[in-house]
Amino acid sequence: MLQADIRTQSTNPAKLAGLFKKQFELCKVKPGETIAIVSDLGTRREYIEASFAAAEELGADIYEMCVNAIPTWTSVGVETVGKCKGTLEALMQCDMVLIFHVPLFSSWLKKVMDNGVRIQMIIDAPDDLYALQSPPGLKEALLHAHKLYENTKQVRVTSKAGTDFTYERGEYPVMSQYGFADEPGHFDHWGAGFLHTFPNEGSANGTLYIQPGDIVILPYSRYIQDEIIVEVRDGHIVSIEGGLDATLMREWLEDGKDFPEDRDPFAISHLGWGLNPQARWDSIALYGDSPERNRAATRAFPGNFLFSTGPNTQGGGTRKTRGHYDLPMRGCTIELDGNRIIEDGKVLDPKMIVPRERR
Ligand SMILES: [Fe+2]
Repeated sequence: MLQADIRTQSTNPAKLAGLFKKQFELCKVKPGETIAIVSDLGTRREYIEASFAAAEELGADIYEMCVNAIPTWTSVGVETVGKCKGTLEALMQCDMVLIFHVPLFSSWLKKVMDNGVRIQMIIDAPDDLYALQSPPGLKEALLHAHKLYENTKQVRVTSKAGTDFTYERGEYPVMSQYGFADEPGHFDHWGAGFLHTFPNEGSANGTLYIQPGDIVILPYSRYIQDEIIVEVRDGHIVSIEGGLDATLMREWLEDGKDFPEDRDPFAISHLGWGLNPQARWDSIALYGDSPERNRAATRAFPGNFLFSTGPNTQGGGTRKTRGHYDLPMRGCTIELDGNRIIEDGKVLDPKMIVPRERR
């Protein structure tokens, strides 16, 4: 293979300890606090080394709990903690958990968070930890958006391509991620910068015209190549039409069924938008389709409408299905009770616009 064909990491591994120290400072790690790392056999060792070094510099205590499972991005909800005696109790006792795989939709996570433990998820490549690390103003922008979303009853999403989709909200909480876990019971994802909630049961209706350049980040990590027309009636998808991308979506969700009449994979899941100016929608084109390069970037880029299907246990609902699809859409207009905050994919609300740092 020619050297030019290899995508090399541009972040010097020796800089990781400093990067982690900055992250811990964002997380308000204090002397005497206890940090528990939840890792697996696939976790990058240099992340553990950097975490240990950063904790030591800040006077915090830290240890690693390596679990015997590697939950992949496409198998969320795996119970990694709690099956072994004492693991849940240990995590409930610490101040912050650093987790190196996706704990979402698992039951232990909620218990630990409800106990006031901060949860910092780290699942992106070193270059992305550097490039996407929360810039000044992102937390404030997210908190502003959070408040607006929380006070919203009806959301309408439209696009020039023909999308006209509405849902009501209020049954489930709004969840915001601004890139660092600084407050008791707060979950965050290093590199994030987005918020979401789950629509009221049965309230989502309309048609989505998903366009080339939109992204199916979960499960496929690829750009949409041909239009998908998705019809939603009373909270569930009733048809998925189009070419290859429609077939991929339909068959993935069909495959997520637990029994023939199971409609849970077709339910509408978390809905929200991205605000991190450090994140680029073209990250797949620039850096390739490895999930480790695209987990935060593709969900967090400003102005995307993140559509998804499947489980809603993270919000407090009962759907646990494997049929989960995450699909950031570009070029959408989002109105909260008639208040237009994003137009054609561009953020309009000045309090949601965060300057981009060149890194
Ligand atoms: Fe998702």
